[in-house]
Amino acid sequence: MKSFDVVVIGGGPGGYIAAIRAAQLGLTTACIDEAKSADGKPALGGTCTNVGCIPSKALLQSSENYEQVGHHFAEHGIKVKGLDLDLATMLKRKDKVVKASNDGVLYLFKKNKVEFFNGRGSFGKSPSEVVVNGETLQARNVIIATGSNPRPLPGADFDEKLILSNTGALAIPDVPKRLGVIGAGVIGLEMGSVWRRLGSQVTILEALPTFLGAADESVAKEAAKVFARQGLKIETGVKIAKVEKKKTVTVQYTAEDNSSKTLECDRLVVSIGRLPNTDGLNAAGVGLKVDDRGFVAVDGDCRTNLPGVWAIGDVVRGPMLAHKAEEEGVAVAERIVGQRPHIDFNTVPWVIYTTPEIAWVGKTEQQLKAEGVEYRAGSVPFAANARARALGDTTGLVKFLAKTGTDEILGVHIIGPFAGELIAEAVVAMEFRGSAEDIGMICHAHPSLSEAMKDAALAVDKRALNI
Ligand code: FAD
Ligand code: NAI
Repeated sequence: MKSFDVVVIGGGPGGYIAAIRAAQLGLTTACIDEAKSADGKPALGGTCTNVGCIPSKALLQSSENYEQVGHHFAEHGIKVKGLDLDLATMLKRKDKVVKASNDGVLYLFKKNKVEFFNGRGSFGKSPSEVVVNGETLQARNVIIATGSNPRPLPGADFDEKLILSNTGALAIPDVPKRLGVIGAGVIGLEMGSVWRRLGSQVTILEALPTFLGAADESVAKEAAKVFARQGLKIETGVKIAKVEKKKTVTVQYTAEDNSSKTLECDRLVVSIGRLPNTDGLNAAGVGLKVDDRGFVAVDGDCRTNLPGVWAIGDVVRGPMLAHKAEEEGVAVAERIVGQRPHIDFNTVPWVIYTTPEIAWVGKTEQQLKAEGVEYRAGSVPFAANARARALGDTTGLVKFLAKTGTDEILGVHIIGPFAGELIAEAVVAMEFRGSAEDIGMICHAHPSLSEAMKDAALAVDKRALNI
């Protein structure tokens, strides 16, 4: 029987990063992942690489290029005739980007001497035995990194033709004339944006009365305005009554004003959250504790109730984000060798890759109010930033929230160009427990979007230089 210090089940961003870090630390490590690509080869990288972060960002980029050429190049004095969409090539390019990432993980496994098994892993007779492809591996430690699956809407099962999860939404072979989306969360907004840019009339139906409730109110308000201007129709406060599938899909729902409404669409994306995945793990067989929502129960250090068994990423509590899964993977590998890493969930950034991008870290203004924390806010619009004007993209704002008295940064909220890149500065500052003044005192290149970070930080003390 093969024996390892660490066996990781799942090769997504949580699992493959955990395996690499464990191997770097000198532990004999195996990683098991069942995903295969269309050609039957391993498709390492999990949801993120195959049907999540990577393909969605590839399509967001391609569709944004199309929108720019079609609608914004003229402002720059560039006239384009005969603009044509070749969706098949766009989708192929996305597949190539995915494949390069799949292969990248395989390469990293070879480089770091992680033994890879392409098959389904499940616990054997005890928590220290993992069975894959009929072979039993002995494991001193097991890391469960089995990720999540899309949550289906009752009465509207995914068929990936008319009713699509993220998998189908990333591979629609022709631009639907009318695309319905249920759930105005991260997937709904990103995939809705992709297909709107490519020509679909997109309607998003959201159950909650508030739009983007997790974001800072001022950012959510700005986002709602901009998305509406772009033609993304978003209805909040709806209650879905029935979904019927014929040649098209008909969604009957109650609108916020209590009226009964019908949405007919050519395809329907259901993006109403994700469920932890413990399918086929034999979790019950070895007594692994799972909570009432199906997440593997873990403590703050990702330890499960079974000695030597850890769990990370989407299959445990916390935000379902690739970088959160990665941080947990690294931390668990380090804990196994006796190190004492720490993850601060408060400094895990969120990025929504729409146009404009939306990014934040730390607390929102509404959270600070609810917690009774005294704070000062400073914000500047991108319209006051020279680089944004040169780019031709002045939508949005940067907002800093800092503690009254100490000036410690408690949250930073951005909506605008490259928000997903700009937020990194705020994460660094918060990790170092920096103050808004610290950012305000740092020299930022001119002209750069990052100057909006400096100015918003200065605005906390009413010292912004460009508004
Ligand atoms: P996963 O990535 O889900 O990987 C789990 C792996 O385990 C899979 O490969 C699965 O096949 C395998 N597996 C499961 N059970 C077994 C078993 N028993 N045996 C063997 N293998 C098994 N997050 C971001 O941070 N940024 C983004 O931009 C972003 N975009 C997203 C876009 C979409 C459309 C979606 C759906 C998600 C997106 N996410 C994004 C979320 C991100 O994909 C997840 O948070 C991340 O993939 C979780 O990583 P994980 O390692 O926990 O699980
Ligand atoms: P989500 O949790 O972001 O959004 C789901 C939305 O659906 C919510 O607004 C919810 O109120 C709504 N909803 C739930 N039930 C509903 C119903 N019956 N009718 C109408 N609306 C309903 O989940 P989503 O978009 O499915 O994405 C899953 C996760 O994947 C995200 O939470 C995020 O963690 C991750 N992700 C991250 C991305 C990023 O970091 N850029 C991109 C895409 C996904």
